[in-house]
Amino acid sequence: MTSVLFICLGNICRSPTAEAVFRQKCALAGLDIYIDSAGTDGWHQGEPPDERACDAGQKRGYDFTGQQSRKITKNDFINFDYILAMDNANVDALETICPPAYLQRVKLFLSFAERPTVREVPDPYYGGRGGFDHVIDLVEAASDGLIKHLS
Ligand code: 4NP
Repeated sequence: MTSVLFICLGNICRSPTAEAVFRQKCALAGLDIYIDSAGTDGWHQGEPPDERACDAGQKRGYDFTGQQSRKITKNDFINFDYILAMDNANVDALETICPPAYLQRVKLFLSFAERPTVREVPDPYYGGRGGFDHVIDLVEAASDGLIKHLS
């Protein structure tokens, strides 16, 4: 089974949103993909997704049930086919710990969007609620492109 791991810094805002959106879109497309998310940092280890991310996502019908922040591990590079980062800082952090044989698995998530307006999903953590809606817009576009790529 193809597997996809979404990555951001804290694994409480952007990558949990990507996990929820992509999971629902795969179900609708009838694609059986193993999906998970993780952070490059472990500050929020064990916490559920940020309430603002859940509010914004649930308004559009996405389900965050059971998600819990965790830090990426070395085994993730071996176990996941696609390791998709939200921004370039995440890519840099991943590249410093990724075994060289698996470096080609690490990509920017928005590289799969068909008509990307930006290259990175900006960190919404210190901003207002509008930032969380913007994250979903970008994540939806990248998810649609990734589903086309995998179909
Ligand atoms: P995320 O957002 O990387 O999208 O989960 C952040 C969450 C927490 C922090 C920064 C970004 N933080 O500084 O605690």
